[in-house]
Formats: sequence, structure tokens, C-alpha cells
Amino acid sequence: MDLVLREGAFLGETHIVTGAAQGIGFWIAQALARHGAQVAMVDLDPKRLEAAKAKLESAIQPMKNAPLVVPADVTLEADVKRAVSQVLEATGCINGVVNVAGITRDSRITKKSLSDFNLVLSVHLGGTFLFTREVAVQHWHPLFKANGDQPLDDGVNRFIVNFSSVSARNGNVGQVDYTAAKGAIEAVTRTTAREYSNYRVRVNAIAPGPVNTPMLATIGEQGIAAMKRATLLGKIAEPGDIAATVLGMACPRISGYTTGQIFATNGGMYLA
Ligand SMILES: NC(=O)c1ccc[n+]([C@@H]2O[C@H](COP(=O)([O-])OP(=O)(O)OC[C@H]3O[C@@H](n4cnc5c(N)ncnc54)[C@H](O)[C@@H]3O)[C@@H](O)[C@H]2O)c1
Repeated sequence: MDLVLREGAFLGETHIVTGAAQGIGFWIAQALARHGAQVAMVDLDPKRLEAAKAKLESAIQPMKNAPLVVPADVTLEADVKRAVSQVLEATGCINGVVNVAGITRDSRITKKSLSDFNLVLSVHLGGTFLFTREVAVQHWHPLFKANGDQPLDDGVNRFIVNFSSVSARNGNVGQVDYTAAKGAIEAVTRTTAREYSNYRVRVNAIAPGPVNTPMLATIGEQGIAAMKRATLLGKIAEPGDIAATVLGMACPRISGYTTGQIFATNGGMYLA
């Protein structure tokens, strides 16, 4: 991936990216690493993660800080606790978390099983909550206490980027669980922005339109063509487009005065 920000914009920082083995998460990990961050790549399967790490390393040369591979299921509290402590032990600091991991189990409400509904909620909403909580419990809150309960005005970049979707506002047939999770993630983003303001963490969410990834491929060619027509820009986004927006959200020079907001990166599919 080409530079979007200045070279070394995130040098000395550690960023956790969930869902980093493929799709948008992989591209975000690559984009952050390309700008100097040490990235902790979280996903379900260790082998897929190792392959993604190797791909990332071959794309960025020379690489200053090798990515960390952190297998974890974002729905499991014990996994998320272990993942955060593992990253802290390795780097001593977590600057940013990008909560990307996601799944779909599309079917109409009348055919939707409760187990699928709960699973989709658990991955998107539960995973976002667990990483948000653990990074603060293990790292940002102790920093705040050590600072005499005073706001962390130390100039250190701290951010969370959550993943919503255009369908949170637009609705989408077959996605009652997914749209519920994404709408809730937007609300969680605003509450977290308020609760974490004393840690000086900027908390925002991105709500992409359709993006060319394995997740989108599940809707088939006709579905993809309809999505394309529904945008004003007449195209499906590439994962790199979304990663570029996330870079701006992570960068204090660009979004240093922005928190609790939802970035509608949707090609004009929905105008709010
Ligand atoms: N692709 C799109 O059109 C689109 C549009 C809007 C929003 N989004 C959102 O962007 C994010 C990424 O989507 P994508 O298209 O790259 O999906 P993807 O299916 O290509 O990748 C998702 C990744 O998340 C991982 N994952 C799933 N469950 C997990 C779990 N329990 N623990 C850890 N990792 C887990 C998967 O293994 C996979 O590597 C999702 O939150 C999705 O809802 C995607």
C-alpha cells in the first residue's frame, strides 16, 4: 500500500486490529504498519494469521516493527483478556484499537434462528465491547489513576475505530442481526467517546458502503451489481479505500479534534 500520510506517522505506536487475517482488517493492518505502527493482528485461526503476517511483511520493506500475531476469538472474554495482555507485555503500550472482526448469517427474519442472531451480535457488538473494555481496564484506566485521576493530556495518540455499516441506517433485507449490531455499535461509539474522554481517547466509527471483500462476495454477482448502482460514485469500494479513511481517523493531525462521530464512507449510498 502506498503512503497516505507522512512516512513514519505512527512510529513508536502499537495498534490492535481485529479481523486482520483477510479483507478490510488485513488492509487496515497493512496501512497502519506502512506508516510505522507495530500492529497486533487478531483473528480466529493462527495459520491464516501467520500467512497474513507474511503477506504484510513482504508488502512493506524494510519493516521496522514486525507485526504481532495474536489468535483470539473476539466473542470470548478470556481470549480478549489474554490478547490485550499479550500485546501489552510485548510492547508496553497500546495506542489504538480498530474493531473490524465481523460475520454475516443472512436470512429473513421469519427464517432467522436465535443462535445465528446471537452469534452475529456476539461477534460484532460483543467483540467491540470486550476489546474496548479490556484495553481500558488493563492500560488506559491505570494510566489515568497513576496520573492522579487527571485527564491524560500527555500528547500520546490514543484512538478507537469501530466498524458500523451503511446498512445500520438504511436497513438491509436478511440482516436483522447485522444491522442491529451495527446500529448498537454506533451508540456504543458515542458512549465510549464520553466515558473515555479523560483518557483522551478519540472514539469514532466508520460506516462503509459495499466493499470488495470475501464478505461481500457472499451476496452474489447480481447483488453486487445492484449495490454498485445504489451508490452515487457508481462503484464498490476497495478495502484500501476504507483503510485510507481509517488512517485519517487514527491520525491526530487529521482527526485530533474529532470524537464520538460516525464516518459515512459509503460512496453516497446513503445521505444523512
Ligand atoms: N465488505 C463490506 O461490504 C462491508 C461493508 C460495511 C461494513 N463492513 C464491515 O467491515 C468489517 C470487515 O468486513 P470484511 O468485508 O473485511 O469481512 P471478511 O469476512 O472479509 O473478514 C472478516 C474477518 O473477521 C474475522 N472474524 C470473524 N469472526 C471472528 C471472531 N469471532 N474473532 C476474531 N475474528 C473473527 C474473520 O476470520 C475474517 O478474517 C466487518 O465488521 C463488516 O461488518 C463490511
